[in-house]
Amino acid sequence: MIFKEEKMMVQEIKIGKSTVQTTKLGLGTNKVGGHNLFQNLNDQDGYDVVRKALDSGIKLLDTAYIYGEGRSEEIIGEVIQNYDRSKIVIATKAAQDPQNNNQINNEPAFLKQAVKDALKRLQTAYIDIFYIHFPDNKTPKNEAVAALNELKQAGLIRAVGVSNFTPEQIKEANIDGLVDIVEDHYNLVHRQIEKTEWPYLKQNKIAFVPYFPLASGLLTGRYTLNDYEKFADDYSKVEFETIINALAITQKIADRHSATVTQTILAWYITNPNIAVVIPGARNQQQAAGNVEALNVTLSEAEFQQIDKAFADFKNK
Ligand SMILES: NC(=O)c1ccc[n+]([C@@H]2O[C@H](COP(=O)([O-])OP(=O)(O)OC[C@H]3O[C@@H](n4cnc5c(N)ncnc54)[C@H](OP(=O)(O)O)[C@@H]3O)[C@@H](O)[C@H]2O)c1
Repeated sequence: MIFKEEKMMVQEIKIGKSTVQTTKLGLGTNKVGGHNLFQNLNDQDGYDVVRKALDSGIKLLDTAYIYGEGRSEEIIGEVIQNYDRSKIVIATKAAQDPQNNNQINNEPAFLKQAVKDALKRLQTAYIDIFYIHFPDNKTPKNEAVAALNELKQAGLIRAVGVSNFTPEQIKEANIDGLVDIVEDHYNLVHRQIEKTEWPYLKQNKIAFVPYFPLASGLLTGRYTLNDYEKFADDYSKVEFETIINALAITQKIADRHSATVTQTILAWYITNPNIAVVIPGARNQQQAAGNVEALNVTLSEAEFQQIDKAFADFKNK
């Protein structure tokens, strides 16, 4: 468990064999410049979200080539020129090949070029965490990771990550012990990897970052049972009722802390020792600033367990 004084502080977080200095809450930036993925975005909100997050004490920014096909990285690159680079942790990803309709490519030469392109867009000399965004179906995973390790030795990146790899692919990628960090779909309503992935990561000292921590908005508490149709593709009616009930339990805990459901859900991840950094996305400055407040919510052991139990049905989903 992490107690308040530690949570508020910038911490040394282990990323494989290296460490980064960050708070346990970062910023997800797929809505910063991610015009190809979401409608009704404007770049000004993107600049404002990144600035607001950094001004509120956020250190880690999670981006990717595919968020706006470079636009998210460009916006972040422009913003960070006015900040102390050494105090910011930049995580980015690549695998989609711009020369080939964004088809997934993990070939060593492609990944090396992708890092160089990202460095230019980010206007920086190094990237703190570089993930292979998705596995391709041809490159041996350890060869892909070895290519990134060469760039790590050259100082262009500081930690090697993989994302969206199956547990078997993670093991293949890590044959030579070169994987520092894994980013995968995980949240309180999608918990299967607690059993299938986390034991291996823990045993091999690989850090874990969950994406979709708010289940794309479902876990913000803004939906009621009447919204079931919006979620019918992903959850049965019974599962949806369980989620709404679990969020009602979370609301009671949130009220005790004068916090919102969103902040309390984020605090649960921050408290979880299996999670390195939480990276909720934000569409605007208000969301970004509100989410930072999760660092001020200190859950008791009992509250942590109560939320864990309320969402226990999703350990197999
Ligand atoms: N490695 C990968 O393959 C991968 C895949 C997906 C995402 N990611 C990363 O993970 C990050 C997080 O995922 P995500 O952003 O897609 O999903 P998320 O964090 O689960 O949900 C973020 C969304 O929740 C809503 N929200 C956020 N804060 C809120 C608040 N305070 N009050 C009310 N609503 C709020 C916003 O949606 P509205 O716009 O609807 O308000 C926001 O865009 C991404 O930004 C990206 O950096 C990585």
